Amino acid sequence: MRIISIRVLGISGSPHRHGNTETLLDRFLDGTQDAGASIEKVILRELSFSSCKGCNVCHKTGECVIKDDILPLLDRILEVDCLAVASPIYSMGITAELKGLIDRSQYIWAQKYILKTRYLTTGYVTRHKGVFISTAGLSWDNVFDAAFPAITAFFNTIGFEYYDNIIANEMDRYKGIHGHPTALTEAYNKGFEVVKKLEKLKKLSH
Ligand SMILES: Cc1cc2nc3c(=O)[nH]c(=O)nc-3n(C[C@H](O)[C@H](O)[C@H](O)COP(=O)(O)O)c2cc1C
Repeated sequence: MRIISIRVLGISGSPHRHGNTETLLDRFLDGTQDAGASIEKVILRELSFSSCKGCNVCHKTGECVIKDDILPLLDRILEVDCLAVASPIYSMGITAELKGLIDRSQYIWAQKYILKTRYLTTGYVTRHKGVFISTAGLSWDNVFDAAFPAITAFFNTIGFEYYDNIIANEMDRYKGIHGHPTALTEAYNKGFEVVKKLEKLKKLSH
């Protein structure tokens, strides 16, 4: 029997190592690994990269002129089946680290929508799942709302279906992610389930 291996990449955009957000991401990755996936984790803060400078050269060439750690990371992203991007809420949005990565994917957007050199079928997008993981201090229901459009834009650019959110607010009240009643279990279960779903989809496409 052919063994189908699902590749999962987790990217933490939290500047705080092993804090609430990275811990929630780790639980998601544990679930994916227990379901049989191969996993990798990248900490954006440990990479060396600049923000997009808006030169728009990529609109003509399809390539980014800034040769730093973001380009191999975006290459890696395009190789995996499941991508989990994690960020705490900072000032009602995602962190500068994660926004910096998303802005730097503009050359992929240019390949798709301006140069039309990258074409992805609906089937391809269905077989690539994107998950957004986030934590916030406040109890407000709308505390994640400003984050969703940037994540939607990113998954759309790289050709991943925006599969799910794993979000936990009220970190201040719960005194951190370990005090949250459901988030860590939810993250583990969702990690496990997405790999099983991807395995089925991959089997069908072979
Ligand atoms: C600079 C900064 C800005 C923040 N802004 C918000 C905010 O706007 N809304 C909110 O609910 N929490 C806010 N928080 C709290 C964090 O989102 C929360 O503590 C989160 O769980 C931290 O995750 P981490 O441990 O991965 O850093 C902020 C924290 C920092 C450090």
